[in-house]
Amino acid sequence: MRLNQSLKQVLIQEEQLRRKIEELGAEISEDYREMLGEAPWERPPLAVGVLRGGVIFLADLVRAIDIPVGYDFITVSSYGNATSPGELRLLKDLVDPVEGRDVLIVEDIVDTGRTLQFIQKTLHARRARSLKTCALIDKRARREVEVELDYVGFRLEEDEFLVGYGLDYAGLYRNLPYVASLKPGCSTGIDA
Ligand code: IMP
Ligand code: MG
Repeated sequence: MRLNQSLKQVLIQEEQLRRKIEELGAEISEDYREMLGEAPWERPPLAVGVLRGGVIFLADLVRAIDIPVGYDFITVSSYGNATSPGELRLLKDLVDPVEGRDVLIVEDIVDTGRTLQFIQKTLHARRARSLKTCALIDKRARREVEVELDYVGFRLEEDEFLVGYGLDYAGLYRNLPYVASLKPGCSTGIDA
């Protein structure tokens, strides 16, 4: 069996991801250089990756940034289930305080916006010096709360469920090197 046997269509190819991340990295570097001057050597901006989906994107993005930058991870989880989303809570916190830091949240995909809103509020309350957000994919069809996105890789208008490049379905497909949609009814690859 192969991991790609349950896929409907590849929507973002590896090469498109690579080029887009290079662009985002250059733009972020430029903006922070302008905003912070030499400060990053003393107090580097902190990229906050959202586990688990944001890991692969964060790993590539920080290597496209050419100013000093640190990174850390946060895990947010919903109390509810797929049909009743419920309250969000912090399942794994950052290692270091963010007070006075220039924080860049790095998210894989923004869907309803609730997860990102929760993270933005949490880090804002901790008095980050500045707070920006970079999302690889902005999926607008199911947006419930407006969230500010400073950097966006790709905009998706359709309500399509995506996997790959960190994005999962039931914990699978994160290791695909591209972003794809799933065949209807195909989920685990076993029933494909
Ligand atoms: P939101 O709180 O509805 O914006 O959803 C945020 C989280 O749901 C993302 O960080 C993903 O982990 C997950 N998610 C939303 N859409 C997709 C998708 O199409 N594929 C995989 N995960 C998704
Ligand atoms: Mg996520």
